[in-house]
Amino acid sequence: MIKPEAVAAGNMGKIIDMIIGSGFRIVALKYTRLSHGEAGTFYEVHKERPFYGELVDYMASGPIVAAILEKDNAMEDFRKLIGATDPAQAAEGTIRKAFAESKAKNAVHGSDSDENAAIESEYFFSGRERF
Ligand code: RTP
Ligand code: MG
Repeated sequence: MIKPEAVAAGNMGKIIDMIIGSGFRIVALKYTRLSHGEAGTFYEVHKERPFYGELVDYMASGPIVAAILEKDNAMEDFRKLIGATDPAQAAEGTIRKAFAESKAKNAVHGSDSDENAAIESEYFFSGRERF
């Protein structure tokens, strides 16, 4: 997912370009917006964390880009491409190093397991939206 502040800053094209240039195939792509309730459900695993309220407000604050990406070892390789959660810790050449504003507003989301990638894909896309 490309998060709201990265979309608002005009960086969605550059981020998609980096993703394709790193060898990912786009299976599905959508420009959409999460309601507050949807953002709360999406990040429910972080319900007990102190930043949960702020995170949900932020993820619902504007349109996002959702995508399903395909590659060998996709989950791990995508986490490498996006870089550490905090851009101050993110390696050179990563999306977050280039585009994240802060640890909270960090430009992109990546699934943290194949199982969660499947759940998150179901959340955004029907079968006929996948190619
Ligand atoms: P994501 O799930 O979005 O790909 O990010 P991540 O795995 O790198 O980080 P995670 O621990 O899952 O945290 C989810 C998102 O919550 C926000 N966050 N804010 N203010 C803070 O200290 C803080 N910590 C995390 C970020 O937007 C993070 O990506
Ligand atoms: Mg995460």
